[in-house]
Amino acid sequence: MEIKVEKGRSEKFPCELLLLFSFESPEPLEGPIKSVDLEWKGYLSTLISQGDFKGELFQCRLFHTQGALPARRVLLTGLGKKEEFDLEKWRGAVSKAGQFIRDSGVKQFVFQIKRFKGLSEEEITESFVTGLLLGTYQFNEFKTLERDKIRKIEEAALLGETEQETSRIGQGLERGRIISNAVCLARDLANAPSNQATPNALAEKAQEIARNEGLGIEVLDLSEAEAMGMGAFVAVAKGSQEPAKFIILEYNKGKGLDTIVLAGKGITFDSGGISIKPAERMEQMKADMSGAAAVLGAMEAASKLQLPLHLVGIIPATENLPSGKAYKPGDVLKTLSGQTVEVISTDAEGRLILSDALTYSLRYKPKAIIDLATLTGACVVALGDYVMGLFGNDEALLKRIEDAAAKSGEKAWRFPLWDEYFEYIKSDVADFRNVGTRAAGAIIGGIFLSKFVEKTPWVHLDIAGPAFIEKERPYIPKGGTGVGVRLLVQLLRDWNS
Ligand code: BES
Ligand code: ZN
Ligand code: MN
Repeated sequence: MEIKVEKGRSEKFPCELLLLFSFESPEPLEGPIKSVDLEWKGYLSTLISQGDFKGELFQCRLFHTQGALPARRVLLTGLGKKEEFDLEKWRGAVSKAGQFIRDSGVKQFVFQIKRFKGLSEEEITESFVTGLLLGTYQFNEFKTLERDKIRKIEEAALLGETEQETSRIGQGLERGRIISNAVCLARDLANAPSNQATPNALAEKAQEIARNEGLGIEVLDLSEAEAMGMGAFVAVAKGSQEPAKFIILEYNKGKGLDTIVLAGKGITFDSGGISIKPAERMEQMKADMSGAAAVLGAMEAASKLQLPLHLVGIIPATENLPSGKAYKPGDVLKTLSGQTVEVISTDAEGRLILSDALTYSLRYKPKAIIDLATLTGACVVALGDYVMGLFGNDEALLKRIEDAAAKSGEKAWRFPLWDEYFEYIKSDVADFRNVGTRAAGAIIGGIFLSKFVEKTPWVHLDIAGPAFIEKERPYIPKGGTGVGVRLLVQLLRDWNS
């Protein structure tokens, strides 16, 4: 979809469809919808007063103007109760309107951006674009039948009245587009099957981003990782024939900037290994690299937004499969940190590959490490699929994440990491076991990871719930969600303020 900014007023603007929003009645009409109503001789206010459009949240109704306006059609979309309105509802309402327009087969529409409810043109536009692009996302790369039935909006025009407005709208548009494209990149990777989105494909994607954005990149193969001492990552990778990759992507806007490491779990398929998973829903384990996908998306967006930071993205990428070469329960692994781990379950592989990634990240002496991982089913049991688990060792960093979560609409909920939980992963033969009890499973995953960051401020986001969803949300279609990208980008944008 092409989105452009134009100068004009919606009641005077010729187009296929004019998009209008209204709060739930009995709110008086204000802004562009009021001007359109005047031009249309009170048609809309009559309609609303007669109870034919109530403005309930996400309600959509399409009208033909029959020459009464330069626009051929008008789509009214409800914003719900005015006092309950926020940017999250706005993204949802825009998405619902976009889906309605797309599914009606209309190819072009216009919307006038006006500041309201204390929000700037930039904010309104950024969230408009985000809601529109994320809500109309489709993954149909592998559909070959009836491709002619795939519908797409071709063009959206955002109207500003003055030079000042159009320039602010342009900035909001650019940011919204960059962030949405990054989320869609992560969604594409999570939705892609594991025979396409292999560790090598992740490395190639990272290379492509590095090329386009001028980032530094290094991709270690298994023998290099082994030579370096990454015993945990190597153990997990050994069972697969698909070459594993340890990917390091680096963005540096200048000297002396804060260094932040983003580490993402890149299990391109998790069968559980020798501790094999039940078959039911195992196909969803193609999305076990959603943490890695979020890191790639966030790195791309940070670079395109030219954020003043030094960012390092670290992605251990491999499959977790059973085979004659696979690691086994009872094996003792020597991690890159030198600490040893007794394998209890080969299905607790995420924390193993991340332990080496976290240790590796310490060489950058970062101000903060943030890891994202579809780490535990226990986190899904605890929080469901709306919310990610939040764990960390640094109050200030945790607070920053919570602020970014609230702003971006990607919810994160804090778990404790008290020392007492460490009891669960003590081993008789090694420094730690990779599994504790079923109880507090998500926390135990976090405790395990905490042993590999030394004193560095660190946060772990368990995205097992929200990474892949079975039921769509207002602006998140079902399947891979790209969760984490928007939270990370918000965090990084606000980092120096
Ligand atoms: N990738 C899974 C976690 C997961 C489960 C993600 C459901 C998304 C949806 C992870 O590698 C795993 O298997 N974790 C185990 C840990 C256990 C053995 C301690 C789990 O949650 O059962
Ligand atoms: Zn896994
Ligand atoms: Mn697993």
